[in-house]
Amino acid sequence: MKKRIFSGAQPTGELHLGNYLGATKNWVELQNDYDSMFCIVDLHAITVPQDPLVLRRKTLDLARIYLAAGIDPDVSTVFVQSAVPAHAELAWALNCIAKMGELQRMTQFKDKSGGKSESASVGLFTYPVLMAADILLYQTDLVPVGQDQKQHLELTRDIAERFNRDYGETFVVPDPYILKAGAKILSLKDPSKKMSKSDPNENATIFLMDDPDTVMRKVRKAVTDSGTTVEFDENRPAINNLLTIYRMLTGKSEEDCVTEFEGRGYGEFKPALGETVVEFLRPFQERYKQFDDEELKNILKAGAEKARELARTTIDNTYKNLGLR
Ligand code: TYM
Repeated sequence: MKKRIFSGAQPTGELHLGNYLGATKNWVELQNDYDSMFCIVDLHAITVPQDPLVLRRKTLDLARIYLAAGIDPDVSTVFVQSAVPAHAELAWALNCIAKMGELQRMTQFKDKSGGKSESASVGLFTYPVLMAADILLYQTDLVPVGQDQKQHLELTRDIAERFNRDYGETFVVPDPYILKAGAKILSLKDPSKKMSKSDPNENATIFLMDDPDTVMRKVRKAVTDSGTTVEFDENRPAINNLLTIYRMLTGKSEEDCVTEFEGRGYGEFKPALGETVVEFLRPFQERYKQFDDEELKNILKAGAEKARELARTTIDNTYKNLGLR
């Protein structure tokens, strides 16, 4: 039997190169070797206010992005979280297992609530528990994510281990799958921050739907560190980040990238990087346009049916072990 992977993304804002290089690209590479589940986590999205019409649109658009990136619905199960009620059911049970102190330590909550935890929704606070439910529901072995989700994965493991200890073997304890390259793509304007959907600086993030002129402008305006050589160097995060993007999109080795730009400065590297991103996005955006809404809805419906069936077994087991029903 194949091992299982589960991952997901929120249907808010627009997906960017960080999401692709940190997560989606790995999903595509892993999908044939694992029993793969890729979810559109709309229940996570509503932890902050959303316009219902926009959310519905973005949910379908995210499915389109998964497929355009190379997720094959004949190989992987693609579905929307809210179409499988067991996510919310398991989240409630796990809310009774997770500790306030554990959730208070989550850095993403601190970031997203902007230090104003009093006015953040309770859902935003317990967001990592819903994420644990997503993963544990499918007896997941491996979770391919970017670096920013590592802490949530550790919490998921802790919750699973505690539950198994106190109520009997119920969940597979999952491992994170975080590759070194691409796990944290940085903002193009401030390499002390990760690339993010919600960055107020419009040149900080390259979105997967950006047109060629926009991509070229963003790359041209990307900040650089002191020093003029084009090299991988942990101490020069700006050029390190740009070269990582270049390397991952071209598939070249680190050595080949460095040799290619030896003796040539940013003036030559930046246009080459811009072109590489544009040439990656062109076929991606073409594929994006190919899927119509009806086709997507059918794929999501079939995915949800399969997911519901798998999830039912875990929910029944969990509730039984807790003494419910
Ligand atoms: P989300 O929607 O914020 O991001 C989706 C994926 O993209 C990765 N990512 C990045 N990787 C590299 N560099 C970046 N700058 C960057 N920004 C984002 C994220 O790590 C993620 O893998 N909570 C999750 C969604 C989720 C989930 C799950 C994931 C819900 N349940 C269960 C895995 C398993 C989130 O908000 O991802």
